Amino acid sequence: MAYLKAEDLKPGMVLKSDFINERGSLFLAEGTALTTHLIERIKELKVPYVSVVKDSDAKEVPHPHKTTYEIKTENFLKAYNNSNRVIRELFESVQSGRRLDLDDIRETVGIFIELIHDDENIVPKLQRIHMSDEYTYYHSINVSLMSMLIGKWLKMPVRELRKLGYTGVFHDIGKCKVPPEILNKPDNLNEKEWSIMKQHPVYGYNILKKNNVLSKDVLLGALMHHERKDGSGYPLGLKGNTIHTYGKIVAVADIFDAMMSDRVYRKKRPPLQVAEYIEDRSFDSLDPYISRVFLQGISQFYVGNMVRLNDGRVGKVVYIYPHQPTKPVVLAEGEFLDFSKKSDVTIVEIIG
Ligand SMILES: [Fe+2]
Repeated sequence: MAYLKAEDLKPGMVLKSDFINERGSLFLAEGTALTTHLIERIKELKVPYVSVVKDSDAKEVPHPHKTTYEIKTENFLKAYNNSNRVIRELFESVQSGRRLDLDDIRETVGIFIELIHDDENIVPKLQRIHMSDEYTYYHSINVSLMSMLIGKWLKMPVRELRKLGYTGVFHDIGKCKVPPEILNKPDNLNEKEWSIMKQHPVYGYNILKKNNVLSKDVLLGALMHHERKDGSGYPLGLKGNTIHTYGKIVAVADIFDAMMSDRVYRKKRPPLQVAEYIEDRSFDSLDPYISRVFLQGISQFYVGNMVRLNDGRVGKVVYIYPHQPTKPVVLAEGEFLDFSKKSDVTIVEIIG
């Protein structure tokens, strides 16, 4: 490996590590072979040096002709996998009692901001990524990204989106203090176990407070992500507007991601069923405005998706009513099925 100044780069040299631009987003991925065009772009960015696998005899390789979608997907997956590593290290450092080092998380949240601005189509990508191992890390990333996306749909300024990103990353950090036999128990928790589990937002709040580097909004958002408008939540049983807005936003993102994931104790649910679940609770336990903005926001991703129906047919979502985001119109074998009207047919799966 060699570190070279931009003017010493030659076509054919291969990047040894990801190249992150000055805004914190992935510009070129590790393993990219440099071309004359890419070297010119690197020179424009005025970086001090670039790490490459030195191979001065290598020939210039043709620029890969990938679609914008493929490039965005690759960039997304790179950023996602990198953030998984960062968040695993974060949880491990809390578990071992070390202070939080926020440098990597700052960079990760900066990349998340770029992702949600550049490509709102991250929701279907998140749905394909779900895996059951290391659930807490993936869940933290997903809740962070979804919370920021909801914030964007609510037209919040970037500084708020950044804080929402931190709240999502840290919302379950208190689970580090919950014994693993409770956290990973496949059966229902007994009363005593459940009372410990319900303390995880308080544990998280205390961890974040002790580190004294994050804003109070982030701390309160993490503390209140299980509070519910009707007072049915925990740990404090708060009601209505005493719940911090970040807590209300993260609550919606948390429910959405948790229900969309396979867990040891239950299988994931179809996206429209999850949307209906959130809609049903939007007037009692969740915030009605935030829920509505969220449902309208995610519904746009399902137009054009193929769906499997409970009668075995496969159809395509062709329209979603703005006021009824959970009840699309589907074209199946030449027949238009309007789910906003009563029907025995249901959507069991979004195929993609
Ligand atoms: Fe939680």
